[in-house]
This record gives sequence, C-alpha cells and structure tokens, in this order.
Amino acid sequence: MQNPFRFGSVVSGDDFADRRRELAELGRELAGGQHVFLLSPRRYGKTSLILTLLDRLRAQGLLTAYVDVFRATTAAQLLELMAQTVLRGVESRPERVLRLAADLLGKLRPQVGTDPRGKPTLSLEIGHSPRSVLAVREEVLALPEELAKKRGRRLVLVFDEFQEIQRFPGVGLEKAMRSHFQTHRHVGYLFAGSRESALRDMASRERAPFYKFGRLVALGPIASQEFVPFLQVRFKRGHLRLSAEVGDAILAAADDVPYNVQRLCHQLWVRRAGKADRIAERDIGDAIAGIVEQDAPHFNVGWDRLSLHQRQVLQAIARSGGRNVFAGEFLTAHRLGSHSSVQTSLRQLLKEQVLAKTGGEYRFADPFFREWVTLRLP
Ligand SMILES: Nc1ncnc2c1ncn2[C@@H]1O[C@H](COP(=O)(O)OP(=O)(O)OP(=O)(O)O)[C@@H](O)[C@H]1O
Ligand SMILES: [Mg+2]
Repeated sequence: MQNPFRFGSVVSGDDFADRRRELAELGRELAGGQHVFLLSPRRYGKTSLILTLLDRLRAQGLLTAYVDVFRATTAAQLLELMAQTVLRGVESRPERVLRLAADLLGKLRPQVGTDPRGKPTLSLEIGHSPRSVLAVREEVLALPEELAKKRGRRLVLVFDEFQEIQRFPGVGLEKAMRSHFQTHRHVGYLFAGSRESALRDMASRERAPFYKFGRLVALGPIASQEFVPFLQVRFKRGHLRLSAEVGDAILAAADDVPYNVQRLCHQLWVRRAGKADRIAERDIGDAIAGIVEQDAPHFNVGWDRLSLHQRQVLQAIARSGGRNVFAGEFLTAHRLGSHSSVQTSLRQLLKEQVLAKTGGEYRFADPFFREWVTLRLP
C-alpha cells in the first residue's frame, strides 16, 4: 500500500486537508473585490491553499491566474510570465491566446507555442535593457483589467512570493504595479509570501508603494479538529489506529507546521504500517530520529555556514528555549557575551529563516533541526 502522506510539493484534491474557514474567507474577499496580503512562515501551505482556492473560484465562474514570482530572475521575465499566465488564465486554446495577445500586446510581437503538456506558451519580445522593460511594463500591467473587462468576468490574480519583486533592480516595478492595480475594478489581487516581515513591510510601511492596498491575513496552522481526522483516515488505510491524543502529540512535535506534520506521519507510516495496529506516542520520538538521520547531511551544511556565535545562540535556545534570550541570566548561563552580539546573531538567524519569532519568543523554524542540535549538545 502506497504511503498516503505527502510532503514537499503542493498538495491538492484528496491530499489537501480542508482549511474550510480560510477558503471561505479568502474566497469571499477576493470575489468581492478586496485585495489581500497572505503571510505565513515557510511550508504552512500557502501555495496549496491558493491553488485550491483558485480551483473553487473557477468553478464559481471567476477567471483566475497564478504567478510564482520565484520563477522569474529579472523584471523582464516577470512581466513575460505575468502576461503569459494572465492570458492563459482567461483562454486555454492556443490560437485564441495568440489572437488576444495580438490585440492587447501587439507592440510586443507575441508568439505562441505549446509546452510539452499541450498548454499554450507565450513569448514576448522584451529586451533586458531598462528602457525596453519600461516600454513593455505599462502594457503588461494594464492587461489583467483589460482582459477581465473584455470577458465581462471578475479576475483573481495571485502573486506568490510577492516580496521577491523587490530584488529586481532599477525599474520601479513595485511603484508601477501599484499605480496600475489601484485603478483595476474587475481584478482581485492576492499577494502571498513566506518572507513575512518583508511582505508585511511592503503592505504596511507608510512610504511603501503598496501601503494599505489590501488586508493583511496571517495564515495559521491547520486547525487540529480538521487535521487530526485527516491523519486518522489515512493511517486507517494501513489498519493503523490514531487516537485524538496521539494525533495532537504529532501536531505538537511538528510545531503545527503542515509540512512537518505530513513528513512525520510519512515516517510513522514507514515504521509502523504492516507491523502494528496503532500509532503510539513513543513512536513519535523514533520517527523524528529517523528524519533527523535523513536530514543530517543537509543540517551539517547549514551548521557549517553559521558563525561560532550563531551556533552558540542556537545551542542555548535548544537547551533553554527562546523566551528570555536577552535576560542577564540567559546570557551568563550560556556565555553568550554582550546583548548586542546576541542581537546581531538573532537578526541573522531570523533572516536566514533558521529561527522564527512569534510573540517575544525565538524558536527553530524546523523542529527536526532543533532535535539535531539537541542531540549533538556537548
Ligand atoms: N491543507 C493541507 N493539507 C495537508 N497537507 C498540507 C496542507 N497544506 C500544506 N500541507 C503540507 O505542507 C507542504 C507544503 O505546502 P505548500 O508548498 O503549499 O506550502 P507553502 O507555504 O507554499 O510552502 P513554501 O513556503 O515552501 O512555499 C505540503 O507538501 C504538505 O505536505
Ligand atoms: Mg509556496
């Protein structure tokens, strides 16, 4: 029997645990013309949630398009990707995509082909000089509204990992986007990102181009009333019983991060399916040890890149938790030196997403890495 737990890439359909409340709320806002910034740490399930949401909105008759900003390495590429996805979002037949593109982007000499799966692809003549990017920018940024109007339907356009646009230098893309998008009446924009503080700044710093453009929504963990039954059904396929208590213990051991939960359950399945009739609490520790062993090469590389002081800070947090890291006692007990050196290391560890901060508490972004550090404490 195939392992029913999936981790690593986007999950959909039967593999997607409901998130009913989030889907309803986001659907309502976007269909109603509200723009949204969706923030969460890495691997909370943003992309899976977004793609499921778009499926549902399409079923309700809306047009949708999804741009993954990570795929672009220059502003020109991003514009091309945006034009391509928006056109494909409203039209699936290649010859029609070409006609639309010729109508709306005539100056950019659009060319349509097909990808290996038979979907239409679009290439535009965008030079990479700042001047030619500027020339196409205006046309591409106007495209979502024009297409939605032309079709007489509302369009929901998503930019995943939106904060990455700040890496494209020189062309004032962010400002130009805002000035176009704020005039769009038929498009709901959803900007998602996993570098939370960067995205939050884009939406809420007074001088930022996207200041107050949309509502900030923080995506939390999957509610345990939804996630535990989802896990129970899957374990049952291997004749494994999972009690609600052990289910909650799994969520806690995985810090409630959906990716970690699936990973841990995948490992529990590998160890227990066909050998037991239930998952016991003590199985969790064994499964984590298995994951830590698998990831050790990757953890070693990460550890190697850290400064000695950063490693010391991580050891201290693994040992004593990350609540009072600036208290005198904590600094002395762990020989961390000055307040300011701890501050510098913490800032860097947050930036590298080795640590995350919730409330006033610093914690490991990856609980399996915390375990690895703990196991190797002198
Ligand atoms: N609703 C869900 N039901 C079940 N598992 C989920 C769900 N959402 C996310 N996961 C788990 O988390 C993993 C990561 O999901 P996804 O790629 O959607 O997250 P993300 O927040 O976009 O991550 P990243 O920050 O890496 O872009 C999935 O492979 C799956 O194991
Ligand atoms: Mg993602």
